[in-house]
Amino acid sequence: MMQAPLPPAYSQLSDEQTHERIRRAKQALGERVVILGHHYQRDEIIQHADYRGDSYKLARDATRHPEAEFIVFCGVHFMAETADILTPYHQKVILPNMSAGCSMADMANIYQVRACWRELTALFPADSMVPVTYMNSAANLKAFCGERSGAVCTSSNARAILEWAFRQGERVLFFPDQHLGRNTGIAMGIDPDSEMVVWDPELPLGGNTEEAVRRAKLILWKGHCSVHMRFTRAQIEAARKTYPGIKVVVHPECRREVVEAADCNGSTEYIIKVVRESPPGTQWAVGTEINLVHRLAAEHPDKFIMCLDPIVCPCSTMYRIHPSYLCWAMENLMQGNVVNQVRVPENIAHWARVALDRMIGVTESARRAEAVASATATG
Ligand code: 13P
Ligand code: SF4
Repeated sequence: MMQAPLPPAYSQLSDEQTHERIRRAKQALGERVVILGHHYQRDEIIQHADYRGDSYKLARDATRHPEAEFIVFCGVHFMAETADILTPYHQKVILPNMSAGCSMADMANIYQVRACWRELTALFPADSMVPVTYMNSAANLKAFCGERSGAVCTSSNARAILEWAFRQGERVLFFPDQHLGRNTGIAMGIDPDSEMVVWDPELPLGGNTEEAVRRAKLILWKGHCSVHMRFTRAQIEAARKTYPGIKVVVHPECRREVVEAADCNGSTEYIIKVVRESPPGTQWAVGTEINLVHRLAAEHPDKFIMCLDPIVCPCSTMYRIHPSYLCWAMENLMQGNVVNQVRVPENIAHWARVALDRMIGVTESARRAEAVASATATG
């Protein structure tokens, strides 16, 4: 999506002036505004956030302040759409820079997914298949899943959602991230060689033989995150050689061999938790976006924390939320001009909400069951 250039007055402000004006606008708006910040946002943005989190947590946090008129989402477009879908109509979700998208989310569009579904339903009854979309997708793909008895998942609940999906049907179409799908499927015991196929939307039958598709339980869309594709097994080996005893934690958007070689993997919220709960002196190599890794290192000076990739680069679209844009958006809100509102049309929002509500229902009941199991084990 396009973002109009900022009025020059904003780019001419010093950093200090920009932050001071954000603070003033926030104070003036008071309870009328809530600022959410994804963990990949730079510190200069995170300092203004009322809530920070992974994509699941932020989707839930967005619903905590029904009194707020504005939810300013410092993250990427699909996150802002989700916040809009889950909140009442009177709340307006603002994305400070409309060009903050997600290159992975762009790897699947509704026409391609519909075409894939048509090919699959020519082979199998529609009610034997369950579509599951990663949160990192456009609202119309979430709606596609909602309308076809499917659901959304995030990196923090992919396993619970896939387990749920396999209770609903025999096959799952998972998009757009093949790696999260594959890593989760492997953890559940699904054979990646004989029970999974990768679906290339550019090719007939996704580039597979009919026999392979008929055998597959998990059909993985050919999509990926270019930030997480940078991490390799060789980097893990090098880190272990240089820092004996170092622990490796990666995001499940990394490829299979990286996830398998790591000590553990999980969502951004999970990565923060394992690092926080580790004893002082623990060494960590982290395979995820660099702003989060730097913040972890700063917040845990008693631990050694490094990025797995020596040539680190941020998620370029998350990075588009620059403080100048936040300042511009907040001051406009203060002056009564609603800029950069993300509003999902109700016909799409309705079915997308169905898919998101399924995700939330399944996740919360899985978390309750886990809490009961761990209380029973410890008590
Ligand atoms: P999390 O839900 O783990 O924060 O992931 C979002 C994301 O975009 C990772 O690349
Ligand atoms: Fe999208 Fe990857 Fe950036 Fe996450 S890190 S927002 S998946 S491009």
